[in-house]
Amino acid sequence: MRLSVIGCGYLGAVHAAAMASIGHEVVGIDIDERKIATLAAGEAPFFEPGLSEILADGIASGRLTFTTDFAAAAGAAVHFVGVGTPQVKGGYAADLTYVNAAVDALLPHLSEGDIVAGKSTVPVGTAASLAPRITAAGATLVWNPEFLREGFAVQDTVDPDRLVAGVPAGPDGERATGILREVYHPSIAKGTPFIVTDYATAELVKVSANAFLATKISFINAMAEIAEVAGADVTMLADAIGHDVRIGRRFLGAGIGFGGGCLPKDIRAFSARAEELGRGESVAFLREVDDINMRRRERAVELVVQGLGGSVHGKKVTVLGAAFKPYSDDTRDSPGLDVAVRLHGLGAVVSLTDPEAIDNARRQHPQLTYVADRDEALTGADAVVLVTEWDEYRRDLTPEHAASLAAGRVVVDGRNAFDPAAWRAAGWTYYGMGRP
Ligand code: UDX
Repeated sequence: MRLSVIGCGYLGAVHAAAMASIGHEVVGIDIDERKIATLAAGEAPFFEPGLSEILADGIASGRLTFTTDFAAAAGAAVHFVGVGTPQVKGGYAADLTYVNAAVDALLPHLSEGDIVAGKSTVPVGTAASLAPRITAAGATLVWNPEFLREGFAVQDTVDPDRLVAGVPAGPDGERATGILREVYHPSIAKGTPFIVTDYATAELVKVSANAFLATKISFINAMAEIAEVAGADVTMLADAIGHDVRIGRRFLGAGIGFGGGCLPKDIRAFSARAEELGRGESVAFLREVDDINMRRRERAVELVVQGLGGSVHGKKVTVLGAAFKPYSDDTRDSPGLDVAVRLHGLGAVVSLTDPEAIDNARRQHPQLTYVADRDEALTGADAVVLVTEWDEYRRDLTPEHAASLAAGRVVVDGRNAFDPAAWRAAGWTYYGMGRP
């Protein structure tokens, strides 16, 4: 099928390449000329495992092209809209400027019978408000949210755990459902659940999934706070409660909490939208979820201060990681980068390293010192803080090797990813998050 994808960021670029990889003819469109030039050259503009390969294959096959010209969308049967919905400046709501601009730019190129499929995460009610403009152009709007995780985005797009489509009632909705089934045929044939619903439910599926995941992380981080005062170990607690299949162990990783381009802004936008709908109290707990999450960053900073005897001023602190999570170069709302900035603010001489995210981190916080090489970053450190559990640190860095480079013996494990016994045996004073 011929498809267009509007917006070529973390979501759209992966979607375009993934759709080409399953046999469709895809044009990716974005207003950012540099990004389009990079993609058109077959290079991924950000770090995402597996993306370069499917980009190169798609371009070589002739099925995948990129352009800044919206006219190239003409002739596609389905137009996916995957632009960003950041937090508004000075508020919690989602900024729909890019969604509206994408739809406006697309409208003149739509033909009778085209499908416009919204993929961006939007406040409930957005699809209903966009639909009249699209219907007037003879096309049908569906809402088809994306659940991809950065770092696993290719896999999550090619082989998702479920597909959700919000469609209008009546024959247009039925026809659109049939077309989406064709688009996602390989997944559906494999038995991937395909849930067809209304706009509002489809929009809410996405934000409620993210709200649930954020709540799960903050739940275990709240238990970490209790464990800290009770002398318990939150990691063992998570293992024990995680054996209950109703609870499950995944997303019970206590540490410095969640960040990234999705969970923080999505729970805030959800709260703002619930307020607008007169049901703010229904998701009032998301404020607590956010607060717990932010407190854990401060807790990591406190542990470094404590470990260094009450002040970090003039001390060399090595921060391992800058990305909001491993297998990503994304530093948007990165808890680890925030910890580094706070330590810098307290007068620490911060040396920050990350295998993929240094360029993005430097653009956001040029005041920090970045060291590409892990061992060079560790040399002479008074304290070491793990904030992103890359394999290079979690698996490959032995406490003995770290001790051979560092000046001090204080380690703060912001992701509970190190083995405390091994680090202590090598002479380190180990601090975990919610661990004795
Ligand atoms: C998330 C959702 O998982 C995905 O379904 C949605 O489409 C977009 O938002 P992503 O932002 O890529 O995906 O990251 P995710 O893997 O969910 O991690 C989010 C944050 O939570 C990271 O900062 C991670 O370090 C943190 N996290 C995750 C924890 O602190 N503990 C955990 O147990 C799991």
